Amino acid sequence: MKVGFIGTGSMGSLLIESFIQSNALKPQQISASNRTHSKVAELARRYPGLHAAQSNRETAAESDILFICVKPLESKAVTDEIRNVITEEQIVVSITSPVQVRILEHALKAKVSKIIPSITHQVGSGASLCIHGSRITEEDRSLLEELMSHISRPIRVKESYTRITSDFSSCGPAFLAFFMDQWIQAAVQATGIDRTELGALTGEMMIGTGKLLTEGGMTPAELQARVAVPGGITAEALALLDSSLHSVFPKLIRATHNKYEEDMQKVNVSFGSKPINRQQY
Ligand SMILES: NC(=O)c1ccc[n+]([C@@H]2O[C@H](COP(=O)([O-])OP(=O)(O)OC[C@H]3O[C@@H](n4cnc5c(N)ncnc54)[C@H](OP(=O)(O)O)[C@@H]3O)[C@@H](O)[C@H]2O)c1
Repeated sequence: MKVGFIGTGSMGSLLIESFIQSNALKPQQISASNRTHSKVAELARRYPGLHAAQSNRETAAESDILFICVKPLESKAVTDEIRNVITEEQIVVSITSPVQVRILEHALKAKVSKIIPSITHQVGSGASLCIHGSRITEEDRSLLEELMSHISRPIRVKESYTRITSDFSSCGPAFLAFFMDQWIQAAVQATGIDRTELGALTGEMMIGTGKLLTEGGMTPAELQARVAVPGGITAEALALLDSSLHSVFPKLIRATHNKYEEDMQKVNVSFGSKPINRQQY
């Protein structure tokens, strides 16, 4: 099986490296192209056997599965470029949430899926969100999800929940890192403790918390109840967080969804598709 990647920026290169490091793919199975060729040439230097293609058409023509890893408004130029070399047998995967599956199915003859990855795949962790198009067969689903399972936990989601699930799986690491960063900063200012020491401790705590919520089977509410003894220190701090932060989360969801809607409308216009009705949140 040959797997191609168009766009080897942050996510494209992360996927390539994670697939190679997890032994899901050998470099010889991978072709990639990027607008700035030096980026893909560097990957070929690091992973002998990986084919640094000279054009997106070349990458597309030699791939059974083709990942398109460019930004939303760069997608139209890529589909225009590869349209004539893509066949009905190939699987095209977009990793870009505002590009709808129906738009890609209209633009290309291929079977289409959308898979939203996460930075957490760099360490073989986190969920990849899978949205399969109408032409994808059960065999294709298994093939794609088996591939993603080497670096992540593939989870099927409805396309209408792309944004909200991406908030948690792919934006979530940045949101939690922001929370941790602010918290550590306050701790360093208040006590003089070493930032690096606290950073390592925080990482261990996050791993343990993640395990409790997955293999431990706990819900976030149960976890809080187990730690917060009534009248204790944790309960006092949770009450403060509740009163200070509860209005932030609806605003956060509105912020991500508004930006998503804006990008989706621009993508639809770029593909010559009608603007869609604004969803209500
Ligand atoms: N970052 C994340 O955690 C994350 C998670 C899930 C999904 N995503 C999605 O992944 C997509 C890519 O994000 P990113 O962070 O990887 O962006 P990025 O670092 O800017 O990478 C985009 C790459 O696409 C290349 N490119 C643009 N137009 C091209 C074309 N016509 N032909 C070939 N290559 C082209 C760019 O080349 P140049 O080198 O010339 O700029 C760049 O290397 C976005 O839609 C994003 O929403 C990102």
